[in-house]
Amino acid sequence: MIPAWLWLLCFSIPQVTLETEDGHVLWGPQPVLVHVKDENDQVPHFSQAISRVQLSQGTRPGIPFLFLEASDEDEPGTANSDLRFHILNQAPAQPFPDMFQLEPRLGALALSPKGSTSLDQTLEGPYRLLVQVKDMGDQASGHQATATIDVFIVENTWLPLDPVHLAENLKVPYPHHISQVHWSGGDVHYHLESQPPGPFDVDAEGKLYVTMELDRETQAEYLLQVWAQNTHGEDYTEPLELQVVVMDENDNVPVCSPRDPPISIPELSPPGTKVTRLLAEDMDAPGSPNSHVVYRLLSPEPKETEGRAFELDSTSGSVTLGALPFHAGQNILLQVLAVDLGGAEGGLSSTCEVTVTITDINDHAPEFITSQIEPISLPEDTKPGTLVATLMATDADLDPTFRLMNFAIEAGNVDGTFGLDWEPDSGHVQLRLLKNLSFETAPSHKLVVVVQSVAEMVGPGPSPGATATVTVLVERVLPPPKLDQESYEASIPVSTPAGSLLLTIQPLDPMSSPLRFSLVNDSEGWLCIKEVSGEVHTARPLQGAQPGDMYTVLVEAQDADEPTLSTFVTLVIHFLKAHSAPAPTLALVPTRHLCTPRKNHGVVVSGPSEDVDLADGHGPYSFALGLNPTVQRDWHIQAFNGSHAYLTLALHWVEPREYLVPVIINHNAQMWQLLVRVIVCRCNVEGQCMRKVGRMKGMPTKLSAVGILVGTLLAIGIFLILIFTHLTLARKKDLDQPVDSVPLKAAV
Ligand SMILES: *[C@@H]1O[C@H](CO)[C@@H](O)[C@H](O)[C@H]1NC(C)=O
Ligand SMILES: *[C@@H]1O[C@H](CO)[C@@H](O)[C@H](O)[C@H]1NC(C)=O
Ligand SMILES: *[C@@H]1O[C@H](CO)[C@@H](O)[C@H](O)[C@H]1NC(C)=O
Repeated sequence: MIPAWLWLLCFSIPQVTLETEDGHVLWGPQPVLVHVKDENDQVPHFSQAISRVQLSQGTRPGIPFLFLEASDEDEPGTANSDLRFHILNQAPAQPFPDMFQLEPRLGALALSPKGSTSLDQTLEGPYRLLVQVKDMGDQASGHQATATIDVFIVENTWLPLDPVHLAENLKVPYPHHISQVHWSGGDVHYHLESQPPGPFDVDAEGKLYVTMELDRETQAEYLLQVWAQNTHGEDYTEPLELQVVVMDENDNVPVCSPRDPPISIPELSPPGTKVTRLLAEDMDAPGSPNSHVVYRLLSPEPKETEGRAFELDSTSGSVTLGALPFHAGQNILLQVLAVDLGGAEGGLSSTCEVTVTITDINDHAPEFITSQIEPISLPEDTKPGTLVATLMATDADLDPTFRLMNFAIEAGNVDGTFGLDWEPDSGHVQLRLLKNLSFETAPSHKLVVVVQSVAEMVGPGPSPGATATVTVLVERVLPPPKLDQESYEASIPVSTPAGSLLLTIQPLDPMSSPLRFSLVNDSEGWLCIKEVSGEVHTARPLQGAQPGDMYTVLVEAQDADEPTLSTFVTLVIHFLKAHSAPAPTLALVPTRHLCTPRKNHGVVVSGPSEDVDLADGHGPYSFALGLNPTVQRDWHIQAFNGSHAYLTLALHWVEPREYLVPVIINHNAQMWQLLVRVIVCRCNVEGQCMRKVGRMKGMPTKLSAVGILVGTLLAIGIFLILIFTHLTLARKKDLDQPVDSVPLKAAV
């Protein structure tokens, strides 16, 4: 203990000065720190000389049930105030002398392990303990004090608790007392824990409370643990457990599962088909009436006459189809009441809703709108690819995939002459011609077209409307007559006399049926055509025609057997300059012979004058064949000197007969036409004409003798005529001698 004046000294800091006798300060003032040293002059003492304490049986050894308190006024932290507690004596010393233990520094009094076991068996005591407190720590010296502690042993009241049943939603004032615990030892603190955490509490007296309403659906059971603890929070013994059971009340409505997606049921499903199973959940205690849910069908309401659309099992909630039929595309709202308490009065309920959609099935076969189509006429020359007919079909199903159709020609499509064309999702099909028609092979076609659903059909088979019959009649088309040229041309002088043959129009195929020719628009009337042979002549003198002009007429060639078939061809006439002289008369020259097949022979054709006077400006003659194409085809002419030309066969083989070959000779704007009579005969071995061998000369028969006689007389007659004619001509020649009147000559 530090005396009061010293404390004062310590905290009012003194100052030191050095002064002379006359009061002069030589040094200072300077503060001086004075340390006062503690001395163990104080005695420790207990806060209570006698303590009474209750000790419960069952207290665990080593758990302090009393904390001794003592104080020492010496300086804290020094050995002078360092206190130690000891038990000096235990009375009675039964059954053991060391029933207790005292922690020397803390003064915590507890049962020793030995004491704990004996205390549980017999109820001893009370015990009187003499305890000492001493300073100077563990040193032998020091001041000391003593105290007496009476320890009363009490019965263990820390007994197991019965479970508590608590109704949920209990309407009482809270906190609501539910149970009680009691630790009979002294200095007890109760501590409560709830598993899972819940609204429970314990007070200092060990009364247990629930502090608010419970909800079974949140937590149906709690396990509470209560501990008895000393002032330091150490457990005297094991905790007591209390089970709290929350009792159910019908406070939950059956709840339907959230609105399900619509349920699809195929149309035509039989009664009894499972539709769905409704499940309403009730949160109340399982197995109790509070959660016993039954079902009632609210909608659609059953109709007395037609029967039920749906059947509902009230217990299981399963819904099946009733007898009432549905049709595809129907949407039905199914409303079912779910009631708890097994449907008893006062039960809670809610309405469950499910939409049922009746889906389509492919139960309708596609059908043609018209199955009998008017006969269709097609000309024989109709081009492949031509649309013949469009057929329409329908399908009564709703689902687009069930409305998809396939088409096929089931019968009558010989050689694939026809084909079908359709868009997959359209109801119409196009019948097209794929190949050339032929009236000869098939004058008509009877096609049977079938339509089928692409998707597999359910139910009835194909209907009679699934086929359509198309009759195609082939119209005969005959080709128009063909001619040997695409167009015809002729060049003639404007002075060409009437009746001149210009050319011949012929069929391409001589074996084809005969043709009838006519001029369509010979507006000038210059021409005429032989109806059968096709020879075109000038009909009259070409008055008004100008050299260099062209005259085009259309010629019609009709099939003689089939007058509707005809061909038109143009005939172009080019007009040339007129001859200065009158048109040449056609001169017949002596008959020649040529044999066929062609040999290296020809006929020499001479111009009108043997000696061409080249010197006096007169050019050579030019030779050409007549314009008749047949002549041009069969014959060939080539000039070999100024006045002569060589006529040969152009073809290897020409039919043996008599020919009149028109040869046109031009000279100085003059023109002559010469008809060379050539007899074509078969060649003999020598390559000459094979003539009929007559009888040997000099061996005349009687008949030939008469013939010779007549012939001789005839010759004399002719001779006389010639002389006369010659005389006449000679006289005439003297008057005027036109060039073209010179007799034409030709020689073999
Ligand atoms: C069909 O006819 C046309 C004209 O008539 C012809 O050009 C074509 O070659 C023919 N096709 C067949 C495959 O006969
Ligand atoms: C005759 O008809 C053809 C074709 O139409 C035409 O080119 C020609 O000029 C016509 N001829 C006459 C003389 O009208
Ligand atoms: C042309 O040939 C023929 C026959 O060979 C002959 O008679 C004639 O004199 C010839 N004319 C000329 C101008 O050479």
